[in-house]
Amino acid sequence: MSIDEVIVARHSTRRFLSDKPVPKDVIQRALQLATHAPSNSNIQPWRLYLLSGAAADRLKRALVAEVNSGAISQVPPLPEAFKHFNSEVGKQLYGADGLNIPRDDVQGHQAAVLRNYEFYGAPTTAIVCIDNALTKADALSVGMYLQTFLLALTEAGLGSCVEISVSGYPEIIRKTVGIPAELDIICGVAIGYEDETMKVNKLRMERVAVEETTVILEDNV
Ligand SMILES: Cc1cc2nc3c(=O)[nH]c(=O)nc-3n(C[C@H](O)[C@H](O)[C@H](O)COP(=O)(O)O)c2cc1C
Repeated sequence: MSIDEVIVARHSTRRFLSDKPVPKDVIQRALQLATHAPSNSNIQPWRLYLLSGAAADRLKRALVAEVNSGAISQVPPLPEAFKHFNSEVGKQLYGADGLNIPRDDVQGHQAAVLRNYEFYGAPTTAIVCIDNALTKADALSVGMYLQTFLLALTEAGLGSCVEISVSGYPEIIRKTVGIPAELDIICGVAIGYEDETMKVNKLRMERVAVEETTVILEDNV
C-alpha cells in the first residue's frame, strides 16, 4: 500500500473478530515504526500498556462492571460548539447504515455504548498514557506516535479504534492494569482483525473542508 492508501484506509473499527488473535510480531513491528514519531526534545513521552488474552479480558470485565454499577464517566462533555460533530457520529453509528438501532430503543443504545468498554470485542487492547508533569505539546507527540502506530497496524491489515470513553474510569484501569500514579491515562485503543460482515465497519465519517480549518496566507508576488 502507498502511504496515501494507508492514510485513507485507516478508520475506526467497531466490531472485531474476537477469536482471531493479533500476531505478536505484527504488533512489535507497528510499535517499532511508531517510535519514529517526532517529539519535543525527543523526549518520546508515549507510554503504552498493551493487553491481550486474560489481561485484556480482566480489563474489559472491570470496566463493564464499573459502568454497570452506575459510576459516572470522568470524560468532560464536549464544548457546545463541537457537540454537533458528536451527534453526527452517533447518527451514523446507530442509524440504518450502521448498527440500525431504533431511536426510541434506550436499552439498545445503552448496550451499544457499553461495547466501548469491551473494546468492541478486540483481542488486543492498549491504554495510552503520558507523564502527568508534561504539557499539551507533549500530548501532541503522543498523538503523532499513536497515528503512526495505527497506520502501521492498518498497513498490516489490522483494524483499530481509539477510545476516549474508557479513560472516563481511570481508577479502575489503574488498579486493573497496574498503572503508576505519575502517568495520566489519555485513551484506550482496540486492536484486532475487523469483522468485515458488519455494516458499522463500512461507515466512513465525513471531513470538513480544508478551507474551514486552515488559514493560508500567501504573498502574491
Ligand atoms: C482521541 C479520540 C477519542 C475517541 N474516542 C472514541 C470512543 O470513545 N469511542 C468510539 O467508538 N470512537 C472513538 N473515537 C473514534 C472517532 O469517533 C473517529 O476517529 C472519528 O469519528 C472519525 O472516524 P474514523 O476514525 O473512522 O476516520 C475516538 C477517536 C479519537 C482520535
